[in-house]
Formats: sequence, C-alpha cells, structure tokens
Amino acid sequence: MSMLREAPIGVFDSGIGGLTVAREIMRQIPQERIVYFGDTARLPYGSKSRNTIIRYSRQIVRFLRTRQVKAIVVACNTASAYALDTLQQESDIPIIGVVKPGARMAAEESPGGNIGVIGTAGTVGSHIYRDYICSLRPDAQVFEKACPLFVPLVEEGWRKDPVTETVARRYLEEMIERKVDTLILGCTHYPLLRSTVRGIMGEKVILVNPAYETAIELKELLKRENIENQGHNKTDENPYEFFVSDEAERFRAFADSILPVDITAARQIQIEEY
Ligand code: DGL
Repeated sequence: MSMLREAPIGVFDSGIGGLTVAREIMRQIPQERIVYFGDTARLPYGSKSRNTIIRYSRQIVRFLRTRQVKAIVVACNTASAYALDTLQQESDIPIIGVVKPGARMAAEESPGGNIGVIGTAGTVGSHIYRDYICSLRPDAQVFEKACPLFVPLVEEGWRKDPVTETVARRYLEEMIERKVDTLILGCTHYPLLRSTVRGIMGEKVILVNPAYETAIELKELLKRENIENQGHNKTDENPYEFFVSDEAERFRAFADSILPVDITAARQIQIEEY
C-alpha cells in the first residue's frame, strides 16, 4: 500500500493547456508526484472527432500506466467530454476529468441559474457541461459558446494583447446580453485569460475555473481511496515529470513560465507506439 501511496498522479492534455490543471494540483496537494503528458504532436483536440479523441486518449492512458500512476486526471476539457466515460469503463485505477467538477461548482454557486460555458468546438458541441449542469439543477439556463481563437492567442503569448481583448469582447458579447451570472472557463487555456474575461464580464459574474475544482476533487478522491501520499520526501529529486509527443523544448519553456517550480526537462516519446 505504501508503494501505491507514493506512486504519481498521471495528468494529460492535448498539449500545454493542462498545465493549468497540473499547477492547481501542485498548489493544493503539493505532496503528490505528477507525471504529465502533453500530446503536442497531435493537438489541437478541440476540433477533432470523438473517435479520434478516444483513440488518442487510450494510447496516453496506456503510456501513463507504464509510469505506474495510481490515478489519472484527464486535464483536457475536450478529452473529458469525449473520452472520459470510455476510459473509466476500461480502467482499474481511478480516472477523473475536468468537466464534472467545474459543472458542479457552477450549478451550486450560480445565484440565478443563468450559466455560460465557453470552450472548444468539441466541448461545446458535446453539450456535456449543459447536460450535467441541468441534471444537477433542472431550472438552470445554460448558454454555450465555442471560442476557438482563444487557444492560439494564448499559445502565441498574447494573453494581455489588445487583439485578444477585441476577440474576447466579440465572443463574450452574447454572454453579457444574456446576463449570465456565472461563466465556466471550459477549456484548459482559458484560466490564463482570466483577467481579460473578468474585465469584460465585470466583477459580479462568478468565473469558474474547472482546473481548481478538479484539484479539490482529486484530493478528496485520493483520501477516499486511501492512496494519498503522506508527505513526499523532500529529497525526491523529481516529483514532477513531463513527457510530450513533439517539441519538448518549446513545451518546457512554456511550462517553466507558468508553473510554480523550475522545469528543467521534458522528454519526447513516440505516443503512437502505445
Ligand atoms: N486542451 C483543450 C481543451 O481543454 C484545448 C486545446 C486543444 O484544442 O487541444 O479542450
């Protein structure tokens, strides 16, 4: 059992975006080790079909299992929307996604049940947030909107750029007209645009970051399953390991810029072999 407790958490995403989820896990459960995989060769996931996302996600789970992970977090909203159920059915270790924790928080916290969801075309097209929110809160009104330009803008490093501000205004116009009281940032990259979104939506709208809620859910899950790491040894040289399917150095530099720890290496693997 103690070996299981010390095993890492597997976290995966289509690329760098899931680092926003890894960052929350590092902050909220710092004693846990993490093996992160970013599918940088095959991103974006947001515009791909369900079958492709399931195939990719299965390969990644197989890879993470070779690293002896004790649980897996599907950090990508699109993969959570399309593949989580399948992965859970096939797995004997716990697997959680980012959608349910975010949806649950919005359903609980929204004052009037007027909830907006922004995400990739895949996530929005699946209506998974809407369906889950309405199952928890049948009176809720959910407005969904795909914001496909946000991901490349973040990856270009234009988080605080006037161009991003203009694009965000255009996307969020409808949310303001519909007077949403709560907005879910339903894509890994969007928490990095939080201050722009905040400026446009105003102070009163509740912004839900699924990454934050997912880390809380993970913490509870580890406790419930009795597999939480009870204080990883501070001598552990490498509590966080990063793997990608392409562009390891570009990934490493981005990771280093947004994570609270120094990232000295990311390794490239052949994900198609899994
Ligand atoms: N990680 C994806 C998501 O959260 C966004 C990037 C992509 O489309 O691959 O949906």
